[in-house]
Amino acid sequence: MFDKGKVIAGIVIFFVILLIPFWYNAVTGKAGYAPELKPGTDAKECVEKTSFMKEKHTELLTKWKEAVVRNGEREYRASNGKTYVMSLTGTCMGCHTNKEQFCDRCHNYTNVKPYCWDCHNVPKVVKK
Ligand code: HEC
Ligand code: HEC
Ligand code: HEC
Repeated sequence: MFDKGKVIAGIVIFFVILLIPFWYNAVTGKAGYAPELKPGTDAKECVEKTSFMKEKHTELLTKWKEAVVRNGEREYRASNGKTYVMSLTGTCMGCHTNKEQFCDRCHNYTNVKPYCWDCHNVPKVVKK
């Protein structure tokens, strides 16, 4: 009726193609993998440029903390001229409403464990 050899060859080729992405990942050690980050807001930009935030949000948060706790200042003037209230819970988490899909996802990936949440509240997740 039909050629068994060809059918088997066909099946083998099918699986080879199907599995290419898995082998690719195995060989490259997940080179292309990065966690998908959901900012959790409709806003277009962060308090500062994304590249700056990516590298320096720790410094910015430390600056905010010191300004508030040591100097009693509450307003931050960003480089684009906008002002923000310097608050981790109110401002950062007010936009980044889903800590798990944003902060945590990146921190888990980079193996960073901020202890801020021992004291600071995480606002309830708002579905976006
Ligand atoms: C031991 C408890 C504790 C820990 C841990 C802690 N904070 Fe705070 N933080 C406070 C308190 C208390 C204030 C003062 C609150 C105020 O005056 O509004 C504050 C204020 C701040 C402020 C300014 C005001 C505000 O409400 O956000 C920032 C920003 C801040 N902390 C960031 C951080 C970051 C970032 C971390 C982690 C690296 C951290 N804190 C860890 C207790 C803590
Ligand atoms: C007005 C809303 C808003 C506020 C407030 C805000 N963010 Fe953002 N943030 C965003 C948006 C939107 C992006 C993504 C911008 C983009 O895609 O380029 C972003 C990007 C980031 C990034 C870079 C993510 C990446 O893909 O590399 C970090 C880190 C970050 N924010 C942390 C913070 C922290 C910490 C605070 C508080 C100091 C904060 N954000 C306050 C809206 C906000
Ligand atoms: C694009 C990846 C990424 C995102 C998104 C991100 N972080 Fe981070 N975060 C890092 C990395 C990497 C470090 C460690 C290096 C550094 O301190 O800059 C870090 C460090 C920190 C630290 C200092 C921790 C310590 O133990 O010194 C704090 C506080 C922090 N992040 C808060 C936040 C908050 C709050 C958010 C969400 C609003 C957030 N991060 C989102 C990558 C990210």
